[in-house]
Amino acid sequence: MSNGRSRRSVEGLKSRLTTSGSATEKGIIPLNPQDPPLILPLTVIAGDQTESAPPPAPVGAMSVGELRDSHHRVIRDLRLSITDRCNYRCTYCMDPDFRYMPKKELLSLEEYLTLARVCVSLGVEKIRITGGEPTMYPQLNEVIEYLGSLPLRDLALTTNGSLLDKKPLRRWHAAGLKRITLSLDSLQPDRVKAITRTNTGPETVIRAIEIAREAGFDPIKVNAVIMRNVNEDEIADFADFAREHDIDMRFIEFMPLDSSRTWDRSKVVTADEMLEKISTRHELVPLDQSDPHSTSLNYTFADGAPGRIGIIAPVTRVFCGACSRLRITADGKVRPCLFSHKEWDIRPVLRSGGSDEDIAAFLRDATWTKQKGHGISEAGFVQPERTMSAIGG
Ligand code: 5AD
Ligand code: SF4
Repeated sequence: MSNGRSRRSVEGLKSRLTTSGSATEKGIIPLNPQDPPLILPLTVIAGDQTESAPPPAPVGAMSVGELRDSHHRVIRDLRLSITDRCNYRCTYCMDPDFRYMPKKELLSLEEYLTLARVCVSLGVEKIRITGGEPTMYPQLNEVIEYLGSLPLRDLALTTNGSLLDKKPLRRWHAAGLKRITLSLDSLQPDRVKAITRTNTGPETVIRAIEIAREAGFDPIKVNAVIMRNVNEDEIADFADFAREHDIDMRFIEFMPLDSSRTWDRSKVVTADEMLEKISTRHELVPLDQSDPHSTSLNYTFADGAPGRIGIIAPVTRVFCGACSRLRITADGKVRPCLFSHKEWDIRPVLRSGGSDEDIAAFLRDATWTKQKGHGISEAGFVQPERTMSAIGG
């Protein structure tokens, strides 16, 4: 019983038992004659493989109180998706006929909070609450209030901004939510409508910026996914927008995570192109990249104007080497990478009375499987089955 493997095989047994799935979907694996059979649901979703438990990490990895992967990276940053629902249908994310997961598949409030708490006990210092659209989750207040009480360095929320209101924003800020990231992919009303497939316009995000600022959020970040022949002609206008509204404008290279699977490399507007377009109007000054895990190249304006620019270039400036992120989806799948094809289902552990130690062991094992990089530029790259809305941005 001295190593993690044998401890897991006995202690983790109860937590890995599950009642879900029909008899034909279950694999029955006898461990030793004294043990009851270990029943694993062999659920496989099209494309990405969902497995009930990751293989045990080596003993060394298990003995440390942190989440480490096999490429010497330590997890400090959790992206927790609390819903796959969204009131928008952004073209680069969700198809109009995108099918949500049944509610019973999603985790309960208590389960989200338990996972967050255990992650923090394993060294997570930053949590970003994502969706889908997290403001569509009815118990978002409770999530923020609980997470705000954990010893975190940073607590952030990614939202499309359409459902924000002054009172809850003030409440969230007081509860410890430190940062808000909004999305706006065009400054032209018709384009916003076309990209989000809604009747919304840029004024929705402008209002969100204003009320978030009033509630005390500073800085406020606004994401724009830049796509060839869609909004690439607005890059310099977005820089003006950053100056005018004193926000951090973040330009994101289009990634192969869209549900319509129309991504191809020709649609990626590269970081270099973006910087070139901005510099036709404004001189930029690079900011000191003191955070080694930062995913963005950051700039201020040479003339001292308010606002900042961030370029997030997952395709042309791969930042996987310094990645400290782990993702948990709304339905309880632990995804070590956005581009994972394998994800680990922690629900059986949660729903069979697994202890904190069982959950921690599962998370350590899952983290160990984190892939080295996304491999977008490698031959044979296959887009993951899940879209951004089902993973959590
Ligand atoms: N490529 C790049 N960024 C994306 N997002 C969603 N889908 C994609 C994609 N295919 C980002 C948007 C949104 C955040 C939740 O995820 O910027 O703000
Ligand atoms: Fe909704 Fe965000 Fe996806 Fe747009 S990108 S459809 S706002 S989850």
